[in-house]
Amino acid sequence: MNLLHIDSSIQADGSASRMISAAAVERLKAAHPDINVTYRDLAAEPLAHITLEGLSSAHAQGVLDEFLNADIVVIGVPMYNFGIPSQLKAWIDHIAIAGKTFSYGPEGVMGLAGGKRVTVALSRGGLYGEGSPAASIEHAETYLKAVLGFIGLGDAEFIVAEGLALGSEQREAALAGAFAQLDERLLQPAG
Ligand SMILES: Cc1cc2nc3c(=O)[nH]c(=O)nc-3n(C[C@H](O)[C@H](O)[C@H](O)COP(=O)(O)O)c2cc1C
Repeated sequence: MNLLHIDSSIQADGSASRMISAAAVERLKAAHPDINVTYRDLAAEPLAHITLEGLSSAHAQGVLDEFLNADIVVIGVPMYNFGIPSQLKAWIDHIAIAGKTFSYGPEGVMGLAGGKRVTVALSRGGLYGEGSPAASIEHAETYLKAVLGFIGLGDAEFIVAEGLALGSEQREAALAGAFAQLDERLLQPAG
């Protein structure tokens, strides 16, 4: 079984999304001890923006294959300017490929990448939850749900820690909530 672990925060120490994604991977490793983990740090080693020539390169094919070969994908994502980091967008542009992860046909769009377990660890400084005044300008969680759903991964689970910039008490509570959700969802015995 293959697990692909992705991070995209420009922060190293103290990054909430990195802490939550790492905690998710630890729990998944506990549940599946013989899992093979591949780590891709999109901030430390950014992918180039796509170009027509670049997309057909061996390197781009390798990025796509790494995703296609994964049974489990864990993605650490900070909200930047209401959306996802451009580093992560570049990765999405490498994996949302017609004929590989989705196809158009007479019945419309079909996602071809289904069957993977996807956990997204999302951190944001403000509050954008359902019903909040800023909910309509949340374009990180909503975008990822849309694009993952488009390629057949509509059941991706989102672990959100928000309000992280609103003081240390809110930050601690949000992180504790995220870890508790991970315990509930990912800590299952092997087998
Ligand atoms: C470049 C940049 C842009 C940001 N834009 C937003 C934003 O639009 N909304 C928000 O709530 N927080 C924003 N933040 C705050 C981050 O989402 C928050 O600090 C989050 O914890 C970052 O994730 P990390 O701790 O994994 O680095 C921004 C932070 C940075 C560095």
